Amino acid sequence: MSVYLSHSEAETLAWAEEYAKTLADEDTVLLEGNMGAGKTVLAKGILKGLGVLEEVTSPTYAYVNAYGGRFFHFDCYRIASEAQALGLGLADYFGRGICLVEWSDRILSLLPGNAKRVVIRGSGEGAREIEF
Ligand SMILES: Nc1ncnc2c1ncn2[C@@H]1O[C@H](COP(=O)(O)OP(=O)(O)OP(=O)(O)O)[C@@H](O)[C@H]1O
Ligand SMILES: [Mg+2]
Repeated sequence: MSVYLSHSEAETLAWAEEYAKTLADEDTVLLEGNMGAGKTVLAKGILKGLGVLEEVTSPTYAYVNAYGGRFFHFDCYRIASEAQALGLGLADYFGRGICLVEWSDRILSLLPGNAKRVVIRGSGEGAREIEF
């Protein structure tokens, strides 16, 4: 386990861009942290590091946004049950590309056992501790 201390959104983006280089083609990364901690900022940085040029927006209402058919960004905050997630086909993405998952605790039993974790702690304009 390692920890990076980020003092700004820009530092988190830059860290995430570098972290992206450590990912393999079919990795799933659980982005964990409280509301507003910076999970979506991490996803933006990782996707930039993977070469995505499109604007990355939070998939809160769509549950999952796909980029180039190879990268998938999930936000499971509004998932009511694992049965709903299964019905939506969310489990089918794992292993088919790099999956970045916010609020993965909503779909615990659907996650691949070898998923990586990045935890971001902190709030507001304060510093963030990023554990990976
Ligand atoms: N060091 C930092 N790293 C990341 N974000 C930071 C930092 N400092 C301040 N922020 C701010 O914290 C907010 C993080 O918002 P973000 O949408 O990424 O959170 P989230 O964890 O995805 O929340 P949600 O659970 O609602 O999806 C942004 O407004 C960002 O500018
Ligand atoms: Mg978010």
